[in-house]
Amino acid sequence: MLLLAGIVWQIEILLQTIVTTYLNSSICISLILENSLSLNIPNSFMYLYANNSDDLAYFMLNASEMGCSDYIVQLKEPEIFMTAFENVVHMGNVRKSDRKIIMLPKIDNNLVSTNSKVELLNILSMKEASFVANILLILPSDTLCDCEIYDLVTHKFVGPDYDNNKPIYLDKWNSCTSKFDNNVNLFPHDMSDLQGKIVKVAGFTYTPYVLLDLDTNIAPRGRDGIEVRIVDEFCRWINCTVEIVRDDEHQWGEIYNNLTGVGVIGNVFEDRADLGITALYSWYEEFVVMDFSAPFLRTGITCIAPSPRLLASWEMPLLPFSLYMWIGLLFTFIYASFALIIAKGFVTDSVFLTTFGIMITQSHPESEFSSWRIRSVVGWMMMTGLVLDNAYGGGLASTFTVPKYESSIDTIQDVVDRKLTWGATHDAWIFSLILSQEPLIRSLLRLFRTYPADELKRRSFTRDMAFSIEKLPADNFAIGEYITKEASLDLTIMLEEFYVEQCVVMMRKNSMYANKLNHLIGRLHESGLLLAWETQIALRYLDYKVQLEVKLSRSKRDVENIEPLALRHVEGIFILYAIGVVFSILTLLLEIFFHKKKNKKLRRDSNIAA
Ligand SMILES: *[C@@H]1O[C@H](CO)[C@@H](O)[C@H](O)[C@H]1NC(C)=O
Ligand SMILES: *[C@@H]1O[C@H](CO)[C@@H](O)[C@H](O)[C@H]1NC(C)=O
Ligand SMILES: *[C@@H]1O[C@H](CO)[C@@H](O)[C@H](O)[C@H]1NC(C)=O
Ligand SMILES: *[C@@H]1O[C@H](CO)[C@@H](O)[C@H](O)[C@H]1NC(C)=O
Repeated sequence: MLLLAGIVWQIEILLQTIVTTYLNSSICISLILENSLSLNIPNSFMYLYANNSDDLAYFMLNASEMGCSDYIVQLKEPEIFMTAFENVVHMGNVRKSDRKIIMLPKIDNNLVSTNSKVELLNILSMKEASFVANILLILPSDTLCDCEIYDLVTHKFVGPDYDNNKPIYLDKWNSCTSKFDNNVNLFPHDMSDLQGKIVKVAGFTYTPYVLLDLDTNIAPRGRDGIEVRIVDEFCRWINCTVEIVRDDEHQWGEIYNNLTGVGVIGNVFEDRADLGITALYSWYEEFVVMDFSAPFLRTGITCIAPSPRLLASWEMPLLPFSLYMWIGLLFTFIYASFALIIAKGFVTDSVFLTTFGIMITQSHPESEFSSWRIRSVVGWMMMTGLVLDNAYGGGLASTFTVPKYESSIDTIQDVVDRKLTWGATHDAWIFSLILSQEPLIRSLLRLFRTYPADELKRRSFTRDMAFSIEKLPADNFAIGEYITKEASLDLTIMLEEFYVEQCVVMMRKNSMYANKLNHLIGRLHESGLLLAWETQIALRYLDYKVQLEVKLSRSKRDVENIEPLALRHVEGIFILYAIGVVFSILTLLLEIFFHKKKNKKLRRDSNIAA
């Protein structure tokens, strides 16, 4: 019970009726009153007063954060309230889609002032008022022999026209009878029928979320896409008209420090659009200044990276053994030679060549192994050689028949290790990671680049970068149009997802559409329509070959696995052979050359001697 004054004005009776009927379920009401009114408020309330807009905004924000989001206002200058309200809406963290405002006329000398009528009606034409569905003005209308008559007025709000800010008279209340004339709902805008009101939607073409400028033979409205279907369905439900707002150049866009913005986000932020769509994720920086709908799609962001190439064939002879095995082999060779030297009584004559020969199972003339001591050492060496040789032979056979590839790029660690740049057309791809403190993610961010689509298309053939794509819930991919079928042949999808995001629709803070939209998204999830839409759109508009190529990019190598030997396989060995031949010829030539010189010198010397 709030009793602020002794005198009971007739308007108090009216207000009391409205409060009990319409604000009964309100959690908390903010009272911003210049005159003391006696009211019986059924729930919590806060009494706020300040005579300038900044202070008022400060108090209102405090109240709003505590849940007092419905307002009863009676001020000499009511537009101060609207300005403060707009600030509160943008500054607060509490979001509420259905705030109610009741505005009363001012009271001068214990009389309800009739000139405040114009001031209050002006409120409706303020831009701030167009973002609130439920504003009720109580206007003094007449005084007939001690009976005060009040008009109850709200704005038109619904309908396709641009006169939505015009007042409409809902009802009349007479203080003598304490009755309403028409008994209509004084808060008629419950958002269930907007009668064709224009809802501006910001977006740009990004398959499969939003496709604009389509042939009207294919899509009757010239647009399609998962999110376009959501907003179209939304407007079919609440009877509104979608109008697309575009800023294609800036794509997702951003908000600048000077409180302006570009792209989809900027358009919504600056109220040029009511809803923002096109793969907007639940980014923290946007959440602070905007409202998000419930998430409607879970997407996994990863990359398609250059496919691993077949290994160069000169490496093949080295492949059967690992590095440690080769080192072990070297030591075996040294120890075996050492043993042979000892067995021969510390004679190094042709020991290394013999050992090498035995290790690659070559035969040797009997004469070298004259004593049994040497023979027993050589016998063991031969057995070792036999085992090693067979192991190598087996390994080599498998290297030749099963193609060997470079190691593939599977994880974030692989991308960072190889310093592979990755990129797309816009920074929006890294908004979700930008606040991360993890060293690995920070390194990954340093490798991100943005390029125009043409440049990306060119680079998709140069094997020097990876391209970010999205994995959608119904097993489709959102791949930039710059990846062509030809390029996709040489790209492989990574195993690890860089991050996972939830797609949302963005709205101005405390948007009146939020509740209804969340309700719709809940229903869409329930019915599974979102998955069906995704599949339909993927089949109709996406390049199926690119989709398939990416989807199967990790399994297609299994198919071409085993193949007959080809020249390609032995090329490497011939290269080694050719290098050897060139070296020996060079050595031979040098030897002949130096030998001749020596001979000449000798001959000269002998001539002189003679
Ligand atoms: C308001 O709510 C209270 C309980 O919360 C209830 O007792 C009362 O009848 C309600 N009044 C109206 C007019 O609905
Ligand atoms: C907010 O309101 C509460 C309750 O009236 C009060 O205790 C607190 O000091 C207020 N805070 C500010 C910053 O005004
Ligand atoms: C939708 O709005 C139009 C006005 O644009 C109106 O004629 C029609 O009756 C409304 N439809 C429904 C189902 O309310
Ligand atoms: C806001 O900042 C951006 C970039 O910093 C600039 O392009 C734009 O012109 C600025 N807008 C205004 C209104 O100052």
